[in-house]
Amino acid sequence: MSPLHTPSKEHPILVLGSLGQIGTDLVETLRNRYGAEAVISSDKKPLRPEYGRYIQLDALDAAGLEAVIEREGVEQFYHLVALLSATAEKFPDRGWDLNMRSLFIALELAKNGKLKRLFWPSSIAAFGPNSPKTDCPQYTVMDPSTVYGISKLSGELWCDYYHRQYGVDVRSVRYPGLISWKAEPGGGTTDYAVEIFHEALKTNHYTCFLGPDTRLPMMYMDDAIDSTIRIMEAPSEQVRIRTSYNLSAIAFTPAELAAEIARQRPGFAIDYRPDFRQQIADGWPSSISDEAARRDWGHKPRFGMAEMVTDMLEHLRPRYRSGI
Ligand code: SER
Repeated sequence: MSPLHTPSKEHPILVLGSLGQIGTDLVETLRNRYGAEAVISSDKKPLRPEYGRYIQLDALDAAGLEAVIEREGVEQFYHLVALLSATAEKFPDRGWDLNMRSLFIALELAKNGKLKRLFWPSSIAAFGPNSPKTDCPQYTVMDPSTVYGISKLSGELWCDYYHRQYGVDVRSVRYPGLISWKAEPGGGTTDYAVEIFHEALKTNHYTCFLGPDTRLPMMYMDDAIDSTIRIMEAPSEQVRIRTSYNLSAIAFTPAELAAEIARQRPGFAIDYRPDFRQQIADGWPSSISDEAARRDWGHKPRFGMAEMVTDMLEHLRPRYRSGI
């Protein structure tokens, strides 16, 4: 296969699910890096002028996706469509269908030479209750107990299979909970760590759907985007793992996050009303070891919890200025 072109107007990157939490930040960063026209944003919603170069696409419309890729000269594809852990528990068949079928469509396009490089995210949800709780290693017991986790672990194995059998250049990371201010997450178990900031600025109070001591691996979006682009730009031989790389940055509990917010915003208070998401969180590791990602292609997160809290409050404050 001919080598990859630098992303450009003629060979744009396609980001599917671009209006979601990751896509919103990723598209902006990729456009700053390669130019506005070098990135096609695409999602289910109808076009709006502020989306820039945008095509409305359904992740399950294989023919539509193929037509866009051929017509626009797309070589690199970021597949960011999924039902997350909490939503997929409510709609198991929809979660499985969307998460798996959309991945197969992308893998088949790559296998048939329509794409040169594919990014597909996995998650800490691919681990399960019998995986090690702390510093969970790259290779270990994986027994996910959620629909989302099962789809991620299965997807990882399929990525590896397509790489070995058909030479598909697919790259993946297991994201921890992602914290960001540009777009809100939807339907995840780690969403509390974003909601808490909005509520802190609105009412100085948050009722958390996880208990105070539920420690989970987390990462600020800036670091997640940096590593996502890093793995996609790494020479192929450096990407040795083709299932998915553990990715880690910080780990904290709701109580610890609340204490840091209260330090920076006196008077903030939290209480706890755990719901069904507690059980999901309890099945995940509380921290992750990511030596392989650091060694193979230079994963290097910068944000600690305090810097992340400062940055979140600073960026969200203008949105709620009329509040207290
Ligand atoms: N943030 C995701 C979720 O909570 C985990 O990958 O579902």
